[in-house]
Amino acid sequence: MEIIVLPDADAVANAAAGIIQARVERGPAVLGLATGSTPLGTYRELIRRHREEGLSFADAQAFTLDEYLGLPADHPESYRSVIRREFTDSVDFADGAVRSIDGQAEDPEQEALRYDAEIAAAGGVDVQLLGIGTDGHIGFNEPMSSLASRTRIKTLTEQTRRDNARFFPSIDEVPHHVITQGLGTIREARHLLLLGLGEPKALAIAAAVEGPIAANCPASALQLHPHTTVLVDAAAASRLEHTEYYQYTHAQKPAWQRY
Ligand code: F6R
Repeated sequence: MEIIVLPDADAVANAAAGIIQARVERGPAVLGLATGSTPLGTYRELIRRHREEGLSFADAQAFTLDEYLGLPADHPESYRSVIRREFTDSVDFADGAVRSIDGQAEDPEQEALRYDAEIAAAGGVDVQLLGIGTDGHIGFNEPMSSLASRTRIKTLTEQTRRDNARFFPSIDEVPHHVITQGLGTIREARHLLLLGLGEPKALAIAAAVEGPIAANCPASALQLHPHTTVLVDAAAASRLEHTEYYQYTHAQKPAWQRY
């Protein structure tokens, strides 16, 4: 794992956008896109680079990470709508290049299998952007998710429903169920980019990065991945024990070594 502690959310967004830009400019890229508030700054920065510096996504494809079960695709809080509104509609992805899970599929279990097959058919994900829940979830793999899990239906914890209630008129409207890429699916992406912002994420980041690999912190599964970059602001890094070493490593990073 490469752990990079940055002063604030803008620096994290800038660094994440730089990593995504570098991959997109190397040739046709498959991006994995998270929703929630954490990646919004990164998306804004990518949109800015598209508008002001000519960064193009015309040859890229994208897959969203998860979806609420039962929300219509055009519901403003469906992750299909959110990713289009916050990012992909503001850049130049080709028609049909942004794929999402159908939260209203007649057979959700079949939909989950279909989605994994669609990712595989695209050649797998090159860079997967991830946020982290206060309970250590990535995607919507809540604690005790199998570290080998595939895309499937999960039940949200009440903590996650409370955390996400800010996006809905009331907590009663936050769905109880989701379809999420599994931890095994996520770990097949070639490069994982985990972002953590703010003090509420500090314990989850510390458990994910420095704790044991354990199902009670699903993000700790990233320790098994050969290419994970963790970008955190100072507040989200505040419970890490080895920050000095991470900062030293980053300062010594050889110029030839890319992210
Ligand atoms: C969203 C997702 C979730 C969020 C996590 C953090 O697609 O997969 O894992 O990344 O719940 O949410 P925020 O960023 O809103 O704190």
